[in-house]
Amino acid sequence: MTESVEAPLALLAELTHRCPLQCPYCSNPLELERASNEIDTATWLRVLDEAAAMGMHQVHFSGGEPTVRKDLEELVRHADENGLYSNLITSGVLLDRTRLEALAELGLEHVQISFQDTVAPNADRIGGYKGGHEKKIALAHMVRETGLALTVNAVVHRQNIEHVPDFLDMAVDLGAERIEIAQVQYYGWALKNRAAFIPTYDQLKRTTEFVTEARERLKGVLVIDYVVPDYYARRPKTCMGGWGRRFLNINPAGKVLPCHAAESIPGLTFDSVHDHSLAWIWENSSAFNKYRGTAWMPEPCKSCDRAELDWGGCRCQAYALTGNAGTVDPACELSPLHEETFGLAMKEAAGPPPAFIYRRIGADQEQDAPVFAEPAE
Ligand code: SF4
Ligand code: FES
Repeated sequence: MTESVEAPLALLAELTHRCPLQCPYCSNPLELERASNEIDTATWLRVLDEAAAMGMHQVHFSGGEPTVRKDLEELVRHADENGLYSNLITSGVLLDRTRLEALAELGLEHVQISFQDTVAPNADRIGGYKGGHEKKIALAHMVRETGLALTVNAVVHRQNIEHVPDFLDMAVDLGAERIEIAQVQYYGWALKNRAAFIPTYDQLKRTTEFVTEARERLKGVLVIDYVVPDYYARRPKTCMGGWGRRFLNINPAGKVLPCHAAESIPGLTFDSVHDHSLAWIWENSSAFNKYRGTAWMPEPCKSCDRAELDWGGCRCQAYALTGNAGTVDPACELSPLHEETFGLAMKEAAGPPPAFIYRRIGADQEQDAPVFAEPAE
C-alpha cells in the first residue's frame, strides 16, 4: 500500500453491459462483457454486504442498462437492508410504472435518467433508439409521481450543446432536483467519435456564460452540475475524486476498477470479487495503489499546490492523449501537451462532424445478440 487508505464513499455497480441504446459516447469499454460472464445474484448480494461493512454510504446501480437484470429488485432490497442509499442510473426506456413502484417500495431512493437531447428526432438518432426520448420523458414523470428524487443527466457536445437552455427548462418542468450538464469525456467509444462530439470554443463559451447565469436564477429550484470539456479546460477535473480515494467500480464480470474507464489503460491488473473481498481489493489491489495518493506523481504535479486537490487529473485521459497513464493530464495548462490538445480540439471542432460509430452489442465482439436495439432511421 502506498499511503494510508480511507474507506470509499460509494460503489458503482455496473450490473451489465447490455443496453438497448447505442450511444457513440458510451462510457463502457470497447470490449463489452458478455451476459454469460455477468456475476450472479448471490455474488452481488455478498458484495453489497461487504460495501456496507466497509462504511460505504451509496450504491449506484448502473450498466449498460441495469434494468435488464431480473434480480435488480433483490439487489435494491438488499442495499436498503444494509443501509445503503441506492441510485438507479438508467437509460429510462425499459422501466414501466409497476416495476418502478416496486423498486421504490423495496428501497430505491433516486433515479438518474440520461437524455441525449431535448428534441426527440436528434435524441433518438444519438442514442440509436427510436422512440427513446418519449419513453424517458414518461419515466421522468413517473419517477416524480412515485416520490423518488430525480436527476437529469444531459450529455452535451457539438450536436446538442445549443439546447442547454432547453435542457434546463426540461429539468425544471420534470421536477428534477438536479441536472448534470456533462460534457463528453474522451475515452473508449467517445474517443473513437471525438470529432463528432467536440464543441467549438465559442459554443463552449456561450454555454458556460448561460449556465453561470442560470445557476443564480435557478437557486433553490434546480442544482446544476456543469463540467467544461477537458480539452478546453485550464486545470483538470478531480477525476473520481482522486484515483482510489472515493469510489470503486465493479464491472459486470466482477472486476474491481478504480474508475469506469480504467480498463483502457494497458498493463494494470484488476482483482475480482470472485477471488478477494472488496476491502482487500480496496487496500491491496495493485491497480488501485498504482496511482493512489501523490507518491506516483511526476513533476509538475509533485510540487504543485493543487496535487491534493485534483490528484493530478485523469489517468485515463493522460493515457488516451499521451500513451502514458503516469504523466500529467494534458487538460492541465502546466502540461507540455496542453496547447497541442487545445489546438486538436479547435481543429476537430472546425470540420464537419463525421458519422457516428455506434456502440453495438454484437457488432464486432462476438457479444450476445442485440437485446433491444432498434436504430433510428
Ligand atoms: Fe493538477 Fe498536476 Fe496540473 Fe497541478 S500540475 S494542477 S496537480 S494536473
Ligand atoms: Fe479513469 Fe478519469 S476516467 S481516471
